[in-house]
Amino acid sequence: MESDRLPTDYQHSLCAYRYKAFRDLHDKYGEVVRLGPRSISISNKEMIRQALVTEDLPKGPLYKLFQREGVQTLFSTMDQDWHKKRRRIVSPAFSIKYLNSLEPFMVSVTESLIKKLDADIAASLDEAKYGTVDIWNMVQRLALDVIGETAFGQSFHMVENNSHFVPGAIAEQMRLSAVSVVYPLLSKLFIKNAGKNNPQLTKFLNNVIEERLHNKESQERKDILQFLINSSQQQAAESHNDKLTAEAIMSETVLFLVAGSETTSNTIGFVFIELLNYPEHLKKLYEEIDTVEWEEGQHVFHHNQIKHLPYLNAVINETLRLDAVAAGALHRMTVKPTVLGHLSLPARIHVNCNIWHAQTSDKYYPDPWAFHPERWIEGTDDLEAFFPFSAGSRNCIGKNFAMQEMRIAIATLLKTYDIAPIPQEMEDATSRRHFITMTVQKNSFKIKMKRRI
Ligand code: HEM
Repeated sequence: MESDRLPTDYQHSLCAYRYKAFRDLHDKYGEVVRLGPRSISISNKEMIRQALVTEDLPKGPLYKLFQREGVQTLFSTMDQDWHKKRRRIVSPAFSIKYLNSLEPFMVSVTESLIKKLDADIAASLDEAKYGTVDIWNMVQRLALDVIGETAFGQSFHMVENNSHFVPGAIAEQMRLSAVSVVYPLLSKLFIKNAGKNNPQLTKFLNNVIEERLHNKESQERKDILQFLINSSQQQAAESHNDKLTAEAIMSETVLFLVAGSETTSNTIGFVFIELLNYPEHLKKLYEEIDTVEWEEGQHVFHHNQIKHLPYLNAVINETLRLDAVAAGALHRMTVKPTVLGHLSLPARIHVNCNIWHAQTSDKYYPDPWAFHPERWIEGTDDLEAFFPFSAGSRNCIGKNFAMQEMRIAIATLLKTYDIAPIPQEMEDATSRRHFITMTVQKNSFKIKMKRRI
């Protein structure tokens, strides 16, 4: 059926600048735009909420891009019953309670980051005692190690060495599988093993799971991987039909690396860009963070010390609003005749929720393009047009995980270092592109850093 396939207008969604074209269309034609014969884009906050929450529209065929060898995951499935079951199994691993057990992993990786930054700064000192650091790249490595520690049972040591094969292999798999869905014929002809799993990666993941199953000591780790293995064994003992197989554990683990690393690290990177653009806000954040004293010998914040800092949370929210990593819209599909706002839609219409346009609309936010964290504290703006983690049944399962990791990293980095902009880098950081997540065009952003304590 025509509308089950990826419509031709989506072939362009692989284009890194398409997200801007969608925004321009909304600027020109308003909150509802017809993109093609059977697809629309919406940016009205009530209609988005209706699509994602009230109507709970299923994901559309674009998500096949994320199904390797046809294997669906929590993120990529279009089948709502299957999703409900899988989400019920995986959710407890992301509960606030379980997140506490993940904190030591986040802290130890952040400690490694500080050591690495100290070394890089020392190696590039200028007369003012500042060193130059590619903060974009460093926080990418931090986020990969955090996922390594929590979902793969081991750090990839990307912060220290930047050379583990797993992150690169997964990124390459993602790229090839996207190409094979959008250009099936071309990829069959020209790309060897397009859409197939990388055998070295599969072997690595198999070994990780085998080690966990047979090594009692490694079962002591309270991480996401152990949680998935335990629930799989428990289901087997209770003879559940829908128990997690080793293959399912592997695909969900790979998913966490894809969904949970660049999203978090790019947001931390954007926080640094915004703060360096607005020194008065950076100063305010320093003042707030300095109200929290470190204990003797402490090098990294505990989440409890900072999770309620109002300005830190306002800075993160304001960054998520302006620099939404899902700026390319959330893709859904009607399965029956559906009314969204004033629109009466037949079945099989592709509905794209353009959360970025909603989040930067002057209808909801006065002076929408200004980075103004105070709006999250004063509460005078309409803060409901805010969907950085999506909403409804398919919202981000990793939201609390990401918030915890971002708060620890940002607060610790600012407690430890003074930061200063490099003019050319600030200029370059205005160029963005969007493939799966929003990123700076160069995939790099250098700043000056100097020890404060
Ligand atoms: C700042 C960080 C993050 C942002 C802004 C973010 C944003 C999002 C958004 C917008 C969605 C919905 C996507 C869609 O409908 O296509 C989503 C889903 C998801 N995210 Fe995140 N995410 C972040 C971090 C994480 C982390 C750290 C993890 C895991 C460790 C994660 C795992 C997932 C998963 C598994 C889904 C699919 C959930 C489902 O369909 O049930 N995310 N995220």
